[in-house]
Amino acid sequence: MSTVVVVGSQWGDEGKGKITDYLAQKANVVVRSQGGNNAGHTITFGGEKFALRSIPSGIFNPNIKNVMANGMVINPKQMLEELAGLEARGITKYQLFVSNRAHIVLPYHQDLDGAYEQFKGDKKIGTTKRGIGPTYADKVNRIGIRIADLVDPKLFKKALEDTLPIKNKELEMLGLKTYTVDEIFNEYSEYGKKIKPFVCDTSLLLEEELEKNSKILFEGAQGVMLCIDHGTYPYVTSSSPTGASVPLNCGIAPSYINNVLGICKAYTTRVGEGPFPTELDGNLANYIRERGHEYGTVTKRPRRVGWLDCVALNYARRVSGINYLSLMLFDVLSGLDKVKICYAYELDGKKINTIPATLDELERVKPLYVEMDGWKEDITHVTSFSELPVNAQKYLRKVEELTKSEIVIFSVGPDRLQTIELKEFFK
Ligand code: GDP
Ligand code: IMO
Ligand code: MG
Repeated sequence: MSTVVVVGSQWGDEGKGKITDYLAQKANVVVRSQGGNNAGHTITFGGEKFALRSIPSGIFNPNIKNVMANGMVINPKQMLEELAGLEARGITKYQLFVSNRAHIVLPYHQDLDGAYEQFKGDKKIGTTKRGIGPTYADKVNRIGIRIADLVDPKLFKKALEDTLPIKNKELEMLGLKTYTVDEIFNEYSEYGKKIKPFVCDTSLLLEEELEKNSKILFEGAQGVMLCIDHGTYPYVTSSSPTGASVPLNCGIAPSYINNVLGICKAYTTRVGEGPFPTELDGNLANYIRERGHEYGTVTKRPRRVGWLDCVALNYARRVSGINYLSLMLFDVLSGLDKVKICYAYELDGKKINTIPATLDELERVKPLYVEMDGWKEDITHVTSFSELPVNAQKYLRKVEELTKSEIVIFSVGPDRLQTIELKEFFK
C-alpha cells in the first residue's frame, strides 16, 4: 500500500496535521493537494509545537519530498514567512517542491474576501479572510495568476496588466482600494525570485515517485463537510477536500488512490457559520472546548462544539471513499458521566441517514442519539486499546459500528507519541 490520502471527515481541524506528521515517519513524499493558508495544521513533537498553514506536514523530515500541488492556492508572501519561521526554529534542511500550476493569492483577493463577508452581514460564511474564495473564483473565471507566471517577471507583468483592469473595476464597485501593476509587481516579483528554486511540474515528480513505488501521503486540508461540492453549501470553503479531488489536484491517475484515511475527532467542532446539527452549548460545550483547546489555529476564534455526528461521518465516508478512520482527541471526553453519538437525524417525523441538500432542511433536522456511560480516567498515557477504560473501548467500537469503518489509529493527546496505531496499514 503505497499511497494514503489523509482526509478531514468533519468540518476541519480534526488533527490532519498530527496524523500526517505521524505517518510521514514512514513516507517518502507528502503532498498538500488543495486549500491554502486557511488551513492550520498543528504538529507537536519533542516538546515543540508547530502550526503549519500552507507548507506540507512532512517538512520536518529532511528525507521527505514535500509537494505543494496544483490544486492549492498559494499566498507567496505568507508561504515565505512560514518558511522563514520554520528556518528560524532550526528547520533548515527540507525538500520542497511547488507546482508551477498552483494559483496565487494576491492582496486584492484578501480585500474582496473581507468585503464580501461584510456585505453578507448576518449571512456571512465566517471565512478565514485569507482570500481563498476569491482566488479560486478567479481560477475558475480564467483570470487567475499562477506560480509559473509569478516566477517569470515578463509573464507576471503581462498577467497583471491583463487582470488588474478587471479586478480594479470590481474593487472600485465595492468601494475598495484599487492597485497599480507596479505596486503589486515590485513587491511580488521579489517573492517570485525566492520561490523560483522550489518550482517545478509536480505532476511529473509524482509520476516518477509513483513509478518507483515510493510511499506517498496526500495531506488534505479542511474537511468533507466544508467541500465546495458535498459540504453544507454555501457555508463551505472553495475547494474539495475529498479523496476524489486528489488526482485532479495533483495531476495523477485516479487509480493510484485507494486508501483514504478519514480523520475525525471523538466529538465534532466547527469554526465559522453554518448548520451544525449536534451542536452543544452551555457547560458541556465549555467543558469540551476548554479540554480540547478548541480555538482556531488561524483565526483564534472559539470553535463551536458538539457530539460526534455519524450521519456526517457516513456521508463523508460515502462521498470521499474513506476506508479507515483515525479517532482523534479521544482524551478530551474523559470525565463525562454520559457521552452521546448521533446515529441518525429526524426530519419532519421521518428518520434519515444522510445530509439533506438544502440549508432549510439541514437546519430543521433533529439528531437522534445513542447515549453511553462515560469514563472518568485520564487516558493521555494509554498506549494500547486494552489499556483504555472499558467504556472508552465501547465508545470506540460503537463509532466503528455506526460508521461501518475500521478505526486504525486513536489519539490521546497532541504529541506525536500520543498516537496508538491499532493496525499498521501504511506499510
Ligand atoms: P488540523 O487542521 O486537522 O490539522 O487540526 P488542527 O491542528 O487545526 O486542530 C487539532 C488540534 O487538536 C491541535 O491543537 C492539535 O494539537 C490537537 N490534537 C490533535 N490530536 C489530539 C489529541 O488526540 N488530543 C488532544 N488533546 N489534542 C489533540
Ligand atoms: P484545516 O485544514 C476549519 C472554514 C472557515 C469558514 C469556511 C470558509 O485547518 O482543517 P475560507 O477561508 O476557506 O473561505 O472559509 O471554511 N475553514 C476551516 N475550518 N479548519 C480549516 O482548515 C478551515 N479552512 C476553512 O472557518 O467556515
Ligand atoms: Mg486546522
